[in-house]
Amino acid sequence: MKRKSIVALITLVAALYPAFGQIHISTSGMSLLLDAEKGCNLKILYFGDRLSSSDAENIMFSGTADRNAYPPYGLDCPSEAALAVIHSDGSLATELKVEDTSTADNGNSSVTKIRLKDPEYPFYVTVCYRAYKDVDMIETWTEIENREKKSVVLTEFASGFLPIRRGNVWLCHLHGAWANEGNVVQEPVLPGMKIIKNKDGVRNSQTSHAEVMFSLDGKPMENSGRVIGAALCYSGNYELKIDTGDTDWHFFFAGINPDNSSLKLAPKEVFKTPELALTYSDEGLSGVSRNFHKWARNYRLAHGNTLRKILLNSWEGVYFDIDENKMDRMMADIASMGGELFVMDDGWFGVKYPRNQDDCALGDWVVDSKKLPGGISGLIGMAKKHGIDFGIWIEPEMTNKISELYETHPDWILKSPLREPVYGRGGTQLVLDLANPEVQDFIVGTVDALMTENPDIDYIKWDANMSVMNHGSQYLPDDRQSEMYIEYHRGFEKICSRIRTKYPDLTIQACASGGGRANYGVLPWFDEFWVSDNTDALQRIYMQWGASYFFPAIAMASHISAVPNHQTYRTVPLKYRIDVAMSGRLGMEIQPRNMTEEEIDLCRNAIAEYKIIRPVVQFGDIYRLVSPYDGLGLASMMYCSPDKDKAVFYWWKTEHFRDEHLPRVRMAGLDPDAEYSIQELNRIDTVPLPFEGKTFSGRFLMETGLEIPYTHTVASEDRNDWSSRVLYLVAK
Ligand code: DGJ
Repeated sequence: MKRKSIVALITLVAALYPAFGQIHISTSGMSLLLDAEKGCNLKILYFGDRLSSSDAENIMFSGTADRNAYPPYGLDCPSEAALAVIHSDGSLATELKVEDTSTADNGNSSVTKIRLKDPEYPFYVTVCYRAYKDVDMIETWTEIENREKKSVVLTEFASGFLPIRRGNVWLCHLHGAWANEGNVVQEPVLPGMKIIKNKDGVRNSQTSHAEVMFSLDGKPMENSGRVIGAALCYSGNYELKIDTGDTDWHFFFAGINPDNSSLKLAPKEVFKTPELALTYSDEGLSGVSRNFHKWARNYRLAHGNTLRKILLNSWEGVYFDIDENKMDRMMADIASMGGELFVMDDGWFGVKYPRNQDDCALGDWVVDSKKLPGGISGLIGMAKKHGIDFGIWIEPEMTNKISELYETHPDWILKSPLREPVYGRGGTQLVLDLANPEVQDFIVGTVDALMTENPDIDYIKWDANMSVMNHGSQYLPDDRQSEMYIEYHRGFEKICSRIRTKYPDLTIQACASGGGRANYGVLPWFDEFWVSDNTDALQRIYMQWGASYFFPAIAMASHISAVPNHQTYRTVPLKYRIDVAMSGRLGMEIQPRNMTEEEIDLCRNAIAEYKIIRPVVQFGDIYRLVSPYDGLGLASMMYCSPDKDKAVFYWWKTEHFRDEHLPRVRMAGLDPDAEYSIQELNRIDTVPLPFEGKTFSGRFLMETGLEIPYTHTVASEDRNDWSSRVLYLVAK
């Protein structure tokens, strides 16, 4: 054939192409383009900014990844695979061809399913995509179905795969440790394999996180540049990998961590992988964060559109030293400051083994009547008297060697059959076997009993303070031991969903030794997470900055605590501690009796002012302005109401030197044509800021910004090396 006729033929095929199987999945700002021609491999052609229909039609002429959208192992062996199967005849090779496709409209979203089949085996994979109509987010997952006569074994089973064009791509992810969770890591994506993983078994965000961003235009910028965001919605072990070999593409895979977790699928069994949520923005990292936050509030976070209460938690105030009088006084004190909820933390339970320290009684969820003679109902009565709500701490997935529960049910813990268990916290802690339906019933029953006896409990802090340290389910059969991690989290999901069905209005915090459960696997059932056991305001700026990449302020529990800080021993002035805590879901974690009258007044004022800005903080759009990680001596960010008629601006100095020259911060997210009046909140200065009560256009505030004084104007004996500001902007 002559060259001209070949070109003509290609053009004809191209014109007909949509009819042959192109699927355009889109949101208002994003497109995902697939080639789903029957009998062929399912290919991913494009993911990014929304395409016009003619661009979509002609995409293959522009050059595409031309990759299998869900690459199986076996016929392209050197490549990484999303799926690896040992078929019933022992073969490790899988091939998947498009069988049929469907799209269903579900109101706020549409779900496209592409069913693939192995031509040689009755083995099916349905690749699914849910595209939202009101937020730029596409969730993908797979449903893997064995129709072979005997069982097959899955050794890799990612939720999703995405090719990302090489160039100057940078990866942003979070990393940390206990009391230092959620630190931002930014690094170029280089040849080789980058793996972000978790194998804790219980808590999956204490070290790495299951959410990442890819900046496509070099070193990430907060408010410009193209960025892809991805969040694996899973509460257990995960593996995110970026493989860069000899092609023009980085290959991104995300799913349950398959290590020590191979999965047997019996005939007719279907395994559904967790969702991988994908988003895109050309407004930098903050743009992707806004997409995650909106999606979370609307679809992925319990009560995402309900304002959160301002609370006092008892932990750092009294630790295990719980008693009725102390609780009553703490409730009176938080109520007097304008707080709305009191949460009694660890230490309230245990009869045979009173919980006075961390080495006993988990599982014995009965009030210690020596500490609390009036029981929980007595405490609720006190809370009512003070006009606030009451919440309580539990750690229901765990037990201790020293507990009545373990004495009765030694068969309920995770342990290997022939070995003594390894113990966790307190040298005695053990993880319950959530694969076991009896354990699931026990945990649901624990919450149910608490709630039935005390229907006015408003809030539960659900803690989890141990990793899986013993491989072995005493419930699962011998040939399913490798499914222990997955079954634990299936059990956890069943428990959560049963509790939520019965108690849909309860507020529940996900705590796991601090920030160990900040992930979109748990958040559909939980209203918020405890960012970290480290409440030091300076270090919180860094951790909350990281958490805000993926999670909205409404979900980030952020408490004012005592000084010297219990984790860092740093002494930060109360004004600064308040200004940091007010950028999340404000609370207190302190013994108010140890505060001076002046400090109480400052907190009372802060709580009153937080109530004014609460809708903007908790429902607003985030714009991070100056990163603490850039070492410029300050950090600054803001929230703008969706209508841009109100905004809250935060400015925290992170270093202090004489003759320092901090950058003047330009705001973002405002309406350039609106005129905003400026009011400082939590003011301690003896004179107002020069711009207090003045009005500036959004354009000026975003182009030039305000000169924020480096120090506070206070009496000489009150001067110190800290400085922070919170400004409230209201459009006229
Ligand atoms: C760990 C949590 O992170 C703390 O806030 C506190 O609840 C303790 N557990 C209680 O044991």
